[in-house]
Amino acid sequence: MLKMISQVEPNISNEDVQNVTEYMSSGSWITEHKVTEKLEENVASYVNRKYSVAVPNGTIAIYLGLLASGIKEGYKVAVPNITMIATINAIIWAGAQPVIIDTDNSLCMSLESLNSVSDIDAVIFVPLNGRTGSGIEIQDYCKKNDIILIEDSAHALGSSYLNQKCGSLGNISILSFTPHKIITMGQGGMVLLDDDDVYQNLIDLKTFNREKDKSDVHKGFGLNFKITDLQAALGLSQFNKLEEFIDIKKKLHNEYSKFIDGKYLKQFEDIETPWFIDLYCDDQKQREELKLYLSSKNIETRYSYPSLSSQSYLQGTKKAKLSYSEEISDSILWLPSSTNLTNEDIKFVSNEVNNFFNN
Ligand SMILES: Cc1ncc(COP(=O)(O)O)c(C=O)c1O
Repeated sequence: MLKMISQVEPNISNEDVQNVTEYMSSGSWITEHKVTEKLEENVASYVNRKYSVAVPNGTIAIYLGLLASGIKEGYKVAVPNITMIATINAIIWAGAQPVIIDTDNSLCMSLESLNSVSDIDAVIFVPLNGRTGSGIEIQDYCKKNDIILIEDSAHALGSSYLNQKCGSLGNISILSFTPHKIITMGQGGMVLLDDDDVYQNLIDLKTFNREKDKSDVHKGFGLNFKITDLQAALGLSQFNKLEEFIDIKKKLHNEYSKFIDGKYLKQFEDIETPWFIDLYCDDQKQREELKLYLSSKNIETRYSYPSLSSQSYLQGTKKAKLSYSEEISDSILWLPSSTNLTNEDIKFVSNEVNNFFNN
């Protein structure tokens, strides 16, 4: 019987269990308080941002980031054609109009394509899979053209641009902490930023827009987007292992590179942290066959995101010319990429990938 190899799974240690248990035994109120504050401080300091605001998930983080920046109905927000659906849905939820932009061969937003559309008010740049693409150039472009830049860094905590960490690009960055992210707390998200006014807007939106903390007098409309210290206890414990996880992810890619031909395995820069190991097939049909073949060997894989422009409900969305992203998105397969994988697992998966391509 072949061992089941998952595409990804959370990496929870005894230490994590102990930290959460200790928190539960501490008599605290479980809801958001000091442990969340500590997690916020640690992450903000790691990515070099002034503020960090924990929220229930990455989707809400993008949504609140847009609202707090004043993006609403009548505003146009550029989004790359290859990303998880949350990125564009948060724009739609905020009432703004998404404009889909092509990607370059880093699979991140193409600056050339962005430049081809006019009247953009905000851009969401996604360091997809931990790759940073033209992030810095797009940051310069947005600054020069007075465009708000939001970095959807859901995949990229631990990855870096040339002189700055993912989580620090543009006006606002967001993170996600679902079980397949580099660190997890089950669900969870974070907004990272430097601007005092936008920070205050975020806090108002997140905490019922109270006149002052704990008062029941409200300056205006606001909701409840708090998390719990119970989650943050796990988040903090995981954050303390971030460097270890970054190291494992980089070694994982190096190990795969020893066995799988570079024409199939997409590369990373040294300062980038691979989130998932992505394999390029010739086309959609070959990808489907490879997925089936690996599945017969108990190896779980996942198709990379279909392009946004292929989703039926987004057919009416404004778009740039999408020549690169539409085709490439159908040929990428994500191999097992969990930090729990052993070198034997990687060798086994790689051998099966090679068996498929060589026959
Ligand atoms: C690029 C990207 N943005 C946003 C999100 C949404 O994050 P969450 O699932 O925490 O809402 C995800 C989730 O996987 C994502 O991959």
